[in-house]
Amino acid sequence: MLSRLSAAARPLYVTTPIFYVNAPPHIGHLYSAVIADSVQRFRKLLDPATPIIFSTGTDEHGTKVQQAALKKKVSLDKYCTSVSDEYKKLFEDCGVEFTDFVRTTEDRHKTAVQHFWSELKNRDFIYSSKYSGWYCINDETFLTESHLRKDTRDGKEVLVSIDSGHSVEWTEEQNYMFRLSSFKSDLENWFKKDVITPRKYQDIIMHSMIDSSFSDISVSRPSDRVHWAIKVPDDPSQSVYVWLDALINYLTVVGYPNEIDMTINSSWPVDLHVIGKDILKFHAIYWPAFLMAVGLEPPRKILCHGHWTVNGKKMSKSLNNIVNPYETVTKLEALRYFLLREGTMHSDANYSELKMSQILNSELADTLGNLLNRCTSTLLNPRQEFPQLHYDEFRKMKENEATHKLISLVENLSETCFRHYDNYDFYKVVDCVIAALHSANLFFSEYKPWELRKSLETQKDLDVVLHLTLETIRICSIILLPIIPNMSTKLLDKLLIPEEYRTWYFTEYISWQNDMILETRNISSKKLLLFQKIALDIQKEVTVS
Ligand code: MSP
Repeated sequence: MLSRLSAAARPLYVTTPIFYVNAPPHIGHLYSAVIADSVQRFRKLLDPATPIIFSTGTDEHGTKVQQAALKKKVSLDKYCTSVSDEYKKLFEDCGVEFTDFVRTTEDRHKTAVQHFWSELKNRDFIYSSKYSGWYCINDETFLTESHLRKDTRDGKEVLVSIDSGHSVEWTEEQNYMFRLSSFKSDLENWFKKDVITPRKYQDIIMHSMIDSSFSDISVSRPSDRVHWAIKVPDDPSQSVYVWLDALINYLTVVGYPNEIDMTINSSWPVDLHVIGKDILKFHAIYWPAFLMAVGLEPPRKILCHGHWTVNGKKMSKSLNNIVNPYETVTKLEALRYFLLREGTMHSDANYSELKMSQILNSELADTLGNLLNRCTSTLLNPRQEFPQLHYDEFRKMKENEATHKLISLVENLSETCFRHYDNYDFYKVVDCVIAALHSANLFFSEYKPWELRKSLETQKDLDVVLHLTLETIRICSIILLPIIPNMSTKLLDKLLIPEEYRTWYFTEYISWQNDMILETRNISSKKLLLFQKIALDIQKEVTVS
């Protein structure tokens, strides 16, 4: 768990997986990236002085990338660069604030991989062997028969992976093997530190170790079969296995093999790897074992998330249901909200444009946007102010149930949402915020500010109503900064909240609890349309399709 206090100047190192460039990004890929981004943004919100390393990038070697480039009839270099650029652009457009974007075709990465290989070899964890087994090109992994099932494809009976549904091919070749079997008890000890969250995934992985024979794994392929790869040092007839190559990206980013730099900067180990459930085995078994073999510390924590299905089905090219983040009914920031609001770590989530439209319209427009419009409209707030709190009027209002409910929700928000962020339960953070905003809307209606504004005698009551709703919006906006950074910033700009007051500390600092009469402040008179409602006719089209 993230600690509330920052430890000295040690950076927080958070990673996303690096993404295959065999196809353009979809919402599932974006999901891994926005989770990791929200984690690092939350950490910065807690302590803006924490140095952050937040890495992402693209996984560019291997047979399936080779095949994809061939199909497009472009050179491998050009092909990889164009898809890699698409990922980079998408992440920038979605506010994913990475500090490094690594590509496995970069020289710095090749140096890291070749050094890592030599370390494994020098420590005698690698040996040559004849290998035969079922290889799945799509998942870039060998699979044992217990992980395969029969299926029919194009009228032919084939074997496919039970987990991914992708077909396998029988392969016999000379390979280098890694002595994974010697790390069984080290891994079991490492799991005792509860390194995989949610716990369910750690149980799955520990169970798989008991079930399977836990044998050594192949870590190279003949170069004549996989030529788009990094060559094994001193044996160009073999190419480094793409997963070993890919995992080392996490070391490339911190300057490996320069371990002196890594020590001085205290950048190793990784604090948090964010991954989807399909790549758990590689991160929770292979990766820590590789690291232990070369004498480096394994990661501190692995956060594993569920997958996105589309209208109840797995996303796939053959079903033609892959969701391009740029081609949904809404803008990227709202899509980010939906992914974090609906997705969970422990189970899969379902994407439907209708459901997304309904949630966004109801929460971002009708609840948050509406509350903002009500308390900043020139009709009810003609002086465009965040008015001061008049204590006598406030005390009287507190007797009312709607006020009482709002106050208790807002007063608990900081602590409750801290806990939910700390457990990576973004959907629960949003639930709490929306509940507080609902309550603020009810409170607002209860006091009929459109009546209060008519008489000078009730001016102070109106001020208090505006104050409480604006204060609720201020706190909710800070809490939402890791989830919807752009919208939250616009809200805070509208309320003219100074930059230095946009940290977690100020979610605990609530005006009415601080027994002081705040001066009246201005708000910006610039119009803000927080979220453009998705039109109903679009929703109908979506239902039909
Ligand atoms: N290249 C490997 C990772 C190497 S990391 C050393 C890879 N790439 S990927 O492009 O296939 O997947 C990247 C991330 O996207 C993974 O976390 C994966 O779980 C996630 N997703 C891919 N499809 C997904 C969904 N349908 N839903 C949610 N996330 C999914 O694996």
